[in-house]
Amino acid sequence: MEPALKAGLQIKELTPAAGHERLVHGYDETTGLNALISIHSTARGPAAGGCRMFDYATFEDAVHDVERLSRGMTYKNAGADLPLGGGKSVIIGAPDKVKSPDLMRAFGTFVDTIAGDYYTAEDVGISPQDLSYAAETSDFVVGLDGGPFASGDPSPHTAKGVFLSTKVAWQHLTGTDDLTGVRVAIQGLGHVGMSLAEQLYVAGAKLIVSDLRADALEVARSRLGATVVDPSDVASQTADIFAPCAMGGALNDVTVPQLQVRAVVGAANNQLAGDHIGQALQDRGILYAPDYIVNGGGIINVAMEILKLRDPSFRQDRLAGIATTLQSIFAEAELTGELPHRIADTLIEQRLSS
Ligand code: NAI
Repeated sequence: MEPALKAGLQIKELTPAAGHERLVHGYDETTGLNALISIHSTARGPAAGGCRMFDYATFEDAVHDVERLSRGMTYKNAGADLPLGGGKSVIIGAPDKVKSPDLMRAFGTFVDTIAGDYYTAEDVGISPQDLSYAAETSDFVVGLDGGPFASGDPSPHTAKGVFLSTKVAWQHLTGTDDLTGVRVAIQGLGHVGMSLAEQLYVAGAKLIVSDLRADALEVARSRLGATVVDPSDVASQTADIFAPCAMGGALNDVTVPQLQVRAVVGAANNQLAGDHIGQALQDRGILYAPDYIVNGGGIINVAMEILKLRDPSFRQDRLAGIATTLQSIFAEAELTGELPHRIADTLIEQRLSS
């Protein structure tokens, strides 16, 4: 098919991977924009998912990543019971070398051609400032700092969902959701991890924390009474809960044998380094709260901007829904012996087909 042209932008439909609805390539010679939009599913509503900017080694790597991420967004959005489908975009190139306001405006034009079937937002390599340029040329950019429905930083809402999930896990393990004295080892005190630490502190939990940033560690130590440990030691701390809030793959063949906790409940995306890791956790008697269920608070907040909602009860109801969903996943896991992340997948697939 010949590429369509829009204001210098070349747009070409590519063949998506099986199970995906669309894959579109946008290229603009003037600004150097080289981007992909993947729509995995619009079964529950317009696709929503952030834009990642990364210097992929090959075009195929970018295709693989955007399709993997867009499928993940279908599951996360359905897991949070949002009337949204799953999509994602990537801009190919090193952010510090290629990114410019005009490139982001060209990206906005690209997003606009999808005509409301895809909403974009922030992800790795893209800031709210970058999004503001894209919003000049598209009505389908969210996660903005300003505007009538601007939803602001999603991180505190993500942290709230993780906090509520921690209570659900503790209730499941002990019969009480009182976190007084419960020891939580947090890996990563960034936007989500620090907010989670504050909520846990208020609830009476004892914190063990690690980060690469000395300033964040000092705040947690002095204000929250946290015990600071080296990043290489956080997974082996004797605690009750491990909360991965840094990078993906925190649960892997090295860390899982080291864990000295009863449950893992954290914000990081893609915590399981491989599918076999879920079984490895179960074999060690460690309860795993599936990441994309636990960390849905941020997308719930962003959804309010997409759906143009102001009533906070929308967010509160769906945050409470994270807890209810997790409760039912744990209950079924206990009853059937099935792994929690597999039960979560099945639950979402049922939501998608109903
Ligand atoms: P962030 O970039 O603000 O914080 C990450 C923190 O982890 C930083 O302080 C960094 O220094 C630290 N870190 C990096 N490597 C580390 C290591 N090896 N050991 C200890 N600390 C390390 O990121 P943010 O926004 O707090 O997100 C955290 C995780 O949650 C990410 O995986 C993200 O994808 C995920 N997530 C975030 C959401 C949000 O609303 N911000 C929503 C859903 C998922």
